[in-house]
Amino acid sequence: MPSETCDVVVLLSGSGSNLQALIDSTRAGDSPVRIRAVISNRADAYGLQRARDAGIDTVVLDHKAFDGREAFDQALIERIDAFSPQLVVLAGFMRILSAGFVRHYEGRLLNIHPSLLPKYKGLHTHQRALEAGDHEHGCSVHFVTEELDGGPLVVQAVIPVAADDTPESLAQRVHAQEHQIYPLAVRWFAEGRLRLEEHGALLDGQTLAASGHLIRP
Ligand code: GRF
Repeated sequence: MPSETCDVVVLLSGSGSNLQALIDSTRAGDSPVRIRAVISNRADAYGLQRARDAGIDTVVLDHKAFDGREAFDQALIERIDAFSPQLVVLAGFMRILSAGFVRHYEGRLLNIHPSLLPKYKGLHTHQRALEAGDHEHGCSVHFVTEELDGGPLVVQAVIPVAADDTPESLAQRVHAQEHQIYPLAVRWFAEGRLRLEEHGALLDGQTLAASGHLIRP
């Protein structure tokens, strides 16, 4: 294990296949990433089981038990900060975060989204790409800012759309790419190669293009 590790807290609400990809990537002996905890707003999220199986601490914080978004987000901040992470990773966390939360983690909050942002913010991205007749689709890792799915892009994986693709077949291929680019971006951050500055995301000291680093597998 490298001498300098980067402690990460992962937030999720569902299956956690991206968490699994991150866990698997940290098993490489030279990984600087240490997943300190997984926090979910849903007790039945399968991602919690994946965390337990990997010996990672888990926390359930049910948003329905709080009186409003601000109160929940404040409690969430307290739970996250108890683990003193350098990085917070959203991996299918199905909550809109308050401005205060986003500001608290400015420059150390990443999200993954199943489209080539800035296209198709929000939900049903695969369906929308098909309906628009797009020839390419993919996924994006970005720093989180106050604009929903709108922060500076870090890396995108681009895949071709086939004539017979369905939302399900596209989702499957995009998901496989998510599992490649999220561990990559987290590792860059952990190695100190990736950071957010006023003008956008920087990799190895160079400002990334508006689309982030592009990967065409
Ligand atoms: C992924 O499609 C991700 O892009 C989106 O939520 C989904 C999470 O999937 N933000 P999983 O729970 O990691 O399988």
